[in-house]
Amino acid sequence: MKQVALITGIAGQDGSYLTELLLSKGYSIVGFDNHSVRMQQLRLRLADNPHRSRVLLELGDVRDRDFMTHLILSSRPDEIYNLAAQSHVGVSFQQPKVTADTALAIKGLLEISLEIHPVARIFQASTSEMFGDSPTPQTEHSNFNPLSPYAEAKLEAHEFLIEFRQRHSCYACAGILFNHESPLRREEFVSRKITRGIAKIVSGDSTELRLGNLAARRDWGHAKEYVEAMWLMLQQERPEEFVVATGKSRSVEEFVASGFALIGENWRDYVVSDQELFRPSDPPDLCGDAAEAYRKLAWQPKIPFAELVREMLLAEIGPENSLAIPRVTGVIPNSSRTR
Ligand code: NAP
Ligand code: GDD
Repeated sequence: MKQVALITGIAGQDGSYLTELLLSKGYSIVGFDNHSVRMQQLRLRLADNPHRSRVLLELGDVRDRDFMTHLILSSRPDEIYNLAAQSHVGVSFQQPKVTADTALAIKGLLEISLEIHPVARIFQASTSEMFGDSPTPQTEHSNFNPLSPYAEAKLEAHEFLIEFRQRHSCYACAGILFNHESPLRREEFVSRKITRGIAKIVSGDSTELRLGNLAARRDWGHAKEYVEAMWLMLQQERPEEFVVATGKSRSVEEFVASGFALIGENWRDYVVSDQELFRPSDPPDLCGDAAEAYRKLAWQPKIPFAELVREMLLAEIGPENSLAIPRVTGVIPNSSRTR
């Protein structure tokens, strides 16, 4: 039977990939976002998709209960993916209220859904940031110790969802997502800032790349694969939380070095670590163990880190310069190395 999915924050990185994944599986999609420019970019991206007539896009705010009620009543979704968020950790120190209000919109969504359409299965995008400086590797059983307003708000949302599920026996679950990137990543995040910065150096438009904390370690995967885990989490017999990660963390410095190596340059000749760009607090090492997702969802990331960096850089510098960048071969997927 034809399935309907509702996606909040659809014009963001994950929303775009999830839309394409669900369309390929035959879903009809109703999605909204509050960012009109990005919404237009999504429309353009979908213009070539043969299934685009199955997507309905609206501008809207996940904090608006009337809007959410109207959308759920009119679309009667089988699945709801809650991706809307002020998702930049650095920005959350300057805008804690907007960050929290958006993260906590899941409370309204759960309540509305339970009241008017309880059959919908709900996915919440939780984050590895909730672990803060908890020892690695982080699993579903690790302690949470949030170090930013973003992480605090996401943790409150996460705990509310679990308690709500226990109280009402509904199908709602949260993916504890570690960093995932792609050419669709916004420029404010370090992976895209690095690849974009390298492209500007290649084109002669810039001579330096100014970054903050180079020592922080993150477990970087590819967004295309992480949205598959979201979908799998809503297809289980019972709702449950899962860590979604590659199992290997690298420092920002290693990301930078991998990118510059692709253009045959030494990153030290271009990169400046600027104290002004450091955050008041920053988890030192986020590295997830996704063994449970592998065991119960049969989910395993396959795109190697080096291929992710290469794809992002190629998307920035354009096909005419791509001959300079060799293909990544013979790399064992991260997860196989660590299991
Ligand atoms: P993203 O690119 O920032 O997408 C989120 C989208 O939601 C943006 O277009 C954003 O627009 C929109 N939005 C913000 N506030 C909204 C509101 N009040 N109402 C409606 N839309 C709103 O983030 P992403 O990388 O796709 O991540 C998707 C979700 O996963 C987020 O909840 C994020 O916190 C979570 N997550 C992501 C990662 C990751 O590594 N990508 C890891 C863990 C968890 P604006 O630009 O206007 O804010
Ligand atoms: N953005 C940014 N810009 N980060 C920098 C910079 C810079 O110039 N220089 C160093 N960094 C460091 C940050 O301090 C952080 O330690 C690391 O690079 C990654 O930063 P981001 O790419 O901004 O991502 P994030 O880890 O803070 O948050 C992302 O991943 C979370 C999951 O762990 C976001 O997608 C969050 O929404 C997500 O929850």
